[in-house]
Amino acid sequence: MKLAIHGGEPVRTEPFPSGKDIGAEELALVTEVIESKRLCLHGGEKVPLFEARFAEHYGVRHCTASTSGTSALHVAVGGINPNPGDEIITAPITDMGTIVAILAQNCIPVFADIDPDTYNVSPASISERITDRTAAIMPVHLFGNPCDMDAIMRIAREHNLHVIEDTSQSYGTMYRGRRAGTIGDIGSFSLQQSKHITTGDGGLTITDDDALGERIHLFANKGWPNYSALGAREYRIFGFCYRMTELTAAVGLAQLPKLDRITAGFNWAGDLLTEKLQGIPGIQPPITTPGGVHTYWHYALRVDEQELGMSNVEFARACVAEGAPCGAGYIGCPIYMYEALRKKNIYGDTLFPFDSKEYGSGHEVPYEEGYCPEAERALNEMASLHVNQYFTEKDIQDMADIVHKVAEHARD
Ligand SMILES: Cc1ncc(COP(=O)(O)O)c(C=O)c1O
Repeated sequence: MKLAIHGGEPVRTEPFPSGKDIGAEELALVTEVIESKRLCLHGGEKVPLFEARFAEHYGVRHCTASTSGTSALHVAVGGINPNPGDEIITAPITDMGTIVAILAQNCIPVFADIDPDTYNVSPASISERITDRTAAIMPVHLFGNPCDMDAIMRIAREHNLHVIEDTSQSYGTMYRGRRAGTIGDIGSFSLQQSKHITTGDGGLTITDDDALGERIHLFANKGWPNYSALGAREYRIFGFCYRMTELTAAVGLAQLPKLDRITAGFNWAGDLLTEKLQGIPGIQPPITTPGGVHTYWHYALRVDEQELGMSNVEFARACVAEGAPCGAGYIGCPIYMYEALRKKNIYGDTLFPFDSKEYGSGHEVPYEEGYCPEAERALNEMASLHVNQYFTEKDIQDMADIVHKVAEHARD
């Protein structure tokens, strides 16, 4: 059989299902907001209601809504209130928003290498990166797969560190019976368009800790505690203006009841695809963290070029020609190799905070090739397929047939 990339018949010409569950429910609530003429959370009711419902859904006491996943992480860092120059250990394969949140508080991102099976930060590497400057660990539950949270929490307790879970890509993800985002001190979520549920852009930060919950809420609203109070304003702490609008919260309120169904659909589709992709030489389907439930925001395969006879880029091109949406890699390189980080040039033409007196001398964060070798290798071998809540068994079978066909004929 000839691969479509070489002029053969593609396995599938009909597009795979895509789209978002956005419709009448969102429209009705947005209309309510427009008719109320109250678009800001000050005096509005949709933002506080969305925060309360999301907190309830996740079984925690506090939730602060904000403008993006990046701001949701920034308010989390503001919540723990580290000193400038403190180090926060995080993942080398993530979105830049994770790193922005650390640098925006003038902290130093330190990168732990990944576990090559799960692509998540390895607890052993986290342990190796701890110094006297470490203030927190920010594990990223990558692609919907939970981090090894038991080990991470053990390390955090031993060293008295905060844990902020970056759960942006991992709605519905479970770890040993607990929801990702509720295991550390704080969990952060993104509502950006590509996520399991979306408001276009937006963020949510949750915690069960009353003091953190209060500080996070203040930090997202310029330190201003009481939206509806009459009289003089009070600014209790330094903070940013990251308020979610009533319009955004209206969409979020309509999205939330759909969340469990959507993530269950991703999980079902991804797990079934994995079953159908076992035993293909040169192709490693995603490996769910032991004790985890994976919600497959990306369905990342590992391509062994030697064994398959094709690189991840060639494999992705061949899959696309057969009719499957597929991309090579995720981010182009580990996040520390992007220019601004590699050059440590964040503010103006300085090296602040890396050369600050607060960080002090004698510390080294080598943002260059070789810092996290497993992450570097994984990105060069990764190919991402996509599943979603609309996939039927036939869609999954077609996707599996595409991978099998490409693998069998890779050397033709
Ligand atoms: C792991 C991770 N962290 C942080 C972010 C930042 O979220 P946002 O784009 O909503 O600011 C994203 C979004 O893509 C993400 O995937």
